[in-house]
Amino acid sequence: MTFVTGRNRPGPVTGRAEAGQGCGVRVLPRRLRRVSDQRQASPLAPVVGMVGGGQLARMTYQASIPLGIGFRVLADRPDDSAALVCPAVTVGDYHRLDDLLSFAAGCDVLTFDHEHVPGEHLAALAGTGVTVAPGGAALRYAQDKLAMRDTLTRLGVPCPRYAPVASPEDVAAFAAQVGWPVVLKAVRGGYDGRGVWVCDGPGQAAEVLGYGVPLLAEEHVPFVRELAALVARSPHRQGAAYPVVETVQREGVCREVLAPAPGLAAVLAEDAERLALELADALGVTGLLAVELFETPRGLLVNELAMRPHNSGHWTIEGATTSQFEQHLRAVLDLPLGAPQLAAPQVVMANVFGAPDLAGAGPDVYDRYIHVMAGDPGVKVHMYGKAPRPGRKIGHVTVAGSDVVALRDRATRAASYLGTGKELFE
Ligand SMILES: Nc1ncnc2c1ncn2[C@@H]1O[C@H](COP(=O)(O)OP(=O)(O)O)[C@@H](O)[C@H]1O
Ligand SMILES: [Mg+2]
Repeated sequence: MTFVTGRNRPGPVTGRAEAGQGCGVRVLPRRLRRVSDQRQASPLAPVVGMVGGGQLARMTYQASIPLGIGFRVLADRPDDSAALVCPAVTVGDYHRLDDLLSFAAGCDVLTFDHEHVPGEHLAALAGTGVTVAPGGAALRYAQDKLAMRDTLTRLGVPCPRYAPVASPEDVAAFAAQVGWPVVLKAVRGGYDGRGVWVCDGPGQAAEVLGYGVPLLAEEHVPFVRELAALVARSPHRQGAAYPVVETVQREGVCREVLAPAPGLAAVLAEDAERLALELADALGVTGLLAVELFETPRGLLVNELAMRPHNSGHWTIEGATTSQFEQHLRAVLDLPLGAPQLAAPQVVMANVFGAPDLAGAGPDVYDRYIHVMAGDPGVKVHMYGKAPRPGRKIGHVTVAGSDVVALRDRATRAASYLGTGKELFE
């Protein structure tokens, strides 16, 4: 696998693996189906279809425009974030194979803004000749936290200690090994901390077991901080690694991303980048792979994997030569990858959340622009067109410069004001 990293000098990437040269990749002729029923940049442009119409699809659509390619979205609802802006939207249900098949018929490659498409549908799509990227075999490790842990362990990748659990006895036996608190996680379907429960004792664990969802238990890791290593991999086995970032979580939800991770030892940064690139290759990922990590005094542990544009990579829109959204499109179309270098010494992204108390939150989100934009013309605002609800992620802001303390102050003030009408200092 050839790769470029965020620390390399930008330049042409050499050593693309040739078809049939022992790289294990069979290169199929690219299917360029004409699409005539919807507006399309050029009749010959390839068409990427994204399942899921959230903000990740919205920002991927934005990245498709300068590439001149076609981009379609299978959205749950006409008012989904991407469906509001993308001209080629199909409203359908990704749980239904028929909906997926008819959507895929208008696309050269199918990709995802979430990991919830059932594995049997992914296999069925591939079986009918649809190019699915990432493929179901790889995506499984982003869908199923137990399969992910088992495979990472088999590959020798350091993880928190874990065990599948189905009863209070299972949890008690695990806690006897690792101590309380124990983290219980839904094996499938969780996101943004939904499906993650930190249990202080058997009583709380019993309550979570009562939810009746398949669970795994993990030791509670006393991490120093959380990091993320974002890479892309193409079917030609080219890889590109963004600089490792620090992610700041509250209640399991990402609040801020600091790119690069301030003060991260070069050896750890290199280890994390290499690990992510090697994992992308070992798992056969096409597109982006985000590896969420815990930094501990004993080294790095992998928390989880995502195979799509990731919140830890939103900073790349302004903060890197190639945004994660463009990189994902390049990778799934098997195009050469773009340079992942930083565009400034330090970049900070902060998420915008709906105010806890919308009634008392002051002016409307868009009325707040005047304050934020006049107060700090360097802040780049991204709103997702989502109705504000308490705690809902509705946008993000990015600032670039050099002083991480000053940048965090600017980003969090702007994000807080956009979300709540107040500059909160927490
Ligand atoms: N084993 C653990 N020890 C300590 N904190 C954890 C552990 N697992 C998860 N967390 C915390 O919960 C957050 C969400 O967990 P994660 O497994 O990434 O779920 P999600 O799929 O919702 O992102 C993590 O970012 C981290 O802050
Ligand atoms: Mg996570």
